[in-house]
Amino acid sequence: MIPHSRPSITEDDVARVASVVRSAQIAQGPEVAALERELAARLGVEAAAVVSSGTTALELALRALGVGAGHEVLIPSYVCDALHHAVTRCAAQPVLVDADAETLSLSAKDAEARLTRRTRAVIVPHAFGLLVDLAPFLALDVPVIEDCAQALGGARGGRPAGAAGTLGVCSFFATKMIAAGEGGAVVGPARLVARVREAREYDECEPFGPRTNAKLTDMQAALARSQLARLDAFVARRRAIAARYHAHLGGADCRLPSDPERAHVYHRFVIGLERDPVTVQTALAARGIAARRPVFRPLHRALGLHGYPAAERLWDSRLSIPCYPALGDAEVDEVAQAMREALGR
Ligand SMILES: Cc1ncc(COP(=O)(O)O)c(C=O)c1O
Repeated sequence: MIPHSRPSITEDDVARVASVVRSAQIAQGPEVAALERELAARLGVEAAAVVSSGTTALELALRALGVGAGHEVLIPSYVCDALHHAVTRCAAQPVLVDADAETLSLSAKDAEARLTRRTRAVIVPHAFGLLVDLAPFLALDVPVIEDCAQALGGARGGRPAGAAGTLGVCSFFATKMIAAGEGGAVVGPARLVARVREAREYDECEPFGPRTNAKLTDMQAALARSQLARLDAFVARRRAIAARYHAHLGGADCRLPSDPERAHVYHRFVIGLERDPVTVQTALAARGIAARRPVFRPLHRALGLHGYPAAERLWDSRLSIPCYPALGDAEVDEVAQAMREALGR
């Protein structure tokens, strides 16, 4: 079986976590503080606050920007549910934006059309590790949260992903660019990041609230640090896999991601099909290869909304095939061969 995702864990990763466990300093402590320093240095931002997940990072980033009841936040429809939940947990209203067929993130034009005087932020993901130009979103004149859950290690126009928006958000979930099991971070100006650090704990804190327990453990931070040290190698391997897929599937009846800026980090390798992606997914599964729709279902479908034709088309036509550093060349060739056969039918 070739799984859709598989983290790259080395003996060194194991040793670093074991050493924290042995030390008995297992809750948030020096490993979390070191991860924050290393992440901020890596992204060229003033500060980072590490938290328990990417979803919580989004929520606390919104709160740090003062988003709350009566406010609207622009988010894509073609995205995972986390963005919607983060906005509603702040008591704000998510406003869904249709997709951009090229970037697979949200359309800047549709975002502008849905802007109102209640809009307090826009969340822009680099969907599936495809780096988006933030300029048209920054021009909307509301704070931009750059969602790098799938794009850590990428850069565009010389700026690392995470450093170009008002705040950046990362995820360290098991399948992400660096894996700690769970985990996330908010990165950006020290003044805003301090608010996240302030809000993530409740014990012996003034003022009273609102607060939560959104801390990461030192065990997870040790794993994230060990992985962060290999981020460049992870990105290089993902790009090599993408190049290999391009070489194998260039002439096949499908649409491959294009990267004129050479910026993408290929958290996923997402293919455009002229047919129902489930038929190809089923053909691959019969050969022991796990492929997935890159988005479980668009948010407008979950909410029973209409008027998202581009997101609808993406949902009907895109398939994500295995692409992660632990995938060997022989496995890439096997997936590509199975794809060619499925498409040839
Ligand atoms: C674009 C995006 N943002 C945020 C998240 C949420 O991250 P987490 O799973 O760490 O809560 C995800 C998770 O898949 C994601 O893909």
